Amino acid sequence: MSHTAGVAPSSSVDLFTDAALRDPYPTYEALRAVGPAIRLQRYGVWAIPRHREVKEILHTPNIYPSEGGVALTELANSQILAGTVLASDGDKHTQLRRVLSAQLAPRAIRHIVGTVTTRAQRLVNEILEAGQFDAAVLARRMVSDTVMEQMRLPEEAREPLLTGAAPTFDAFGPDNARFQRALPVASRMVEFLHQTVTRETVATESWMGAIFQAVDDGHLDESDAIPLASAYTAASMDTTILGITEAISQLARHPRQWELLRREPTRATAAFHEALRLEAPIQAFGRLVARPTDVAGVRIEPGEQIWLLYGSAGRDPREWGADADAFDIRRRRVDRHLAFGGGPHLCAGIPLAELQARAVLRALATRCTHLTISGEPVRVLNNLLRGWGQVPIAAELGPRGPSVSMNAAAHACERGTAS
Ligand code: HEM
Repeated sequence: MSHTAGVAPSSSVDLFTDAALRDPYPTYEALRAVGPAIRLQRYGVWAIPRHREVKEILHTPNIYPSEGGVALTELANSQILAGTVLASDGDKHTQLRRVLSAQLAPRAIRHIVGTVTTRAQRLVNEILEAGQFDAAVLARRMVSDTVMEQMRLPEEAREPLLTGAAPTFDAFGPDNARFQRALPVASRMVEFLHQTVTRETVATESWMGAIFQAVDDGHLDESDAIPLASAYTAASMDTTILGITEAISQLARHPRQWELLRREPTRATAAFHEALRLEAPIQAFGRLVARPTDVAGVRIEPGEQIWLLYGSAGRDPREWGADADAFDIRRRRVDRHLAFGGGPHLCAGIPLAELQARAVLRALATRCTHLTISGEPVRVLNNLLRGWGQVPIAAELGPRGPSVSMNAAAHACERGTAS
């Protein structure tokens, strides 16, 4: 990496090797040390590694638009992202986003709070009965049940949707082997949606039904329907599954934080946000540069592309202090992290993600005194997504108590140890 006075900082690092995906933080730290914008020679884009500039760019969409710039290849931008809410700007974006917001706003999801809470309690009870559990399996069941219920697509759609989302995120990355493997699957997802999400198959009272209703009411064009539906299918599952799995995993690694959560269960939402800050499920997204600009003194020309490193921004000591790498559920205003993006494209699903995470963490905190990692977690390697595909967890009776089988732990927890 280099930064000579008067010369634009640049770097030959590859953020997408297996080793870099497994542990990107040393690279992020080095990039943050070089400057606010570093040209990645290998990909011809400008990496933005610090919190302040990522935030500023997200809030300046007239200089840094999304259309044509969210993914790293022209192919993904034109074939997978074209017409989506994620990759549109200005009035078009407002028009598409309004339909989603009507379904996802806090007031719109209030009626499912009871169902989601009960689902979390039931799932937690079930996994505790079954012995040691995998946090990723718990999160996957929680999220896919909730999302399938809101989409009300046929049950056969669940598996294709769950397996198609990760390749879609791989396909937003550079043209590497992972991208090449993912591209056909991501393209088939688009086909699958065209076949599955039709006026004949979707229920009126559902996310998908509301999209067709907006078409009928003249708020959307017919051609907007499937790209908009893909916002739900791609954005709502893996992100939240990885986020909830990460939160459980962090709490299992940090017994004092777990104890704190058990004493004060109202900290469940903060615990979720702290996990997202530390390990953003979506590590980066791109933007185009529409006008000559400078990013904290670094000149960038129109037509160039920016790569916003959400995962690095969450670890930036300039924003988070010397303990930026620590997991602390009491961190002040933790929800200012950028793992949900920011500005006009701020994640539309935050209330739903929070609701599910809160329900799972509280259900676990009510039933069990301790969580520990009981086997080797398995990392998901993806061009954009970060998190765990498996995290084996065991429950323990107490700080000095012996590790017990989950059945015994479940009964011990039931004896009312939660405060
Ligand atoms: C932990 C869970 C989640 C994470 C980390 C996450 C992350 C993000 C990020 C980073 C963006 C911003 C994209 C950009 O910068 O251009 C975004 C946008 C979006 N998210 Fe989420 N998301 C999560 C859950 C959800 C859920 C549950 C939904 C529900 C359907 C959802 C729907 C969306 C939509 C529709 C957008 C596009 C918004 C727009 O372009 O205006 N997300 N999300």
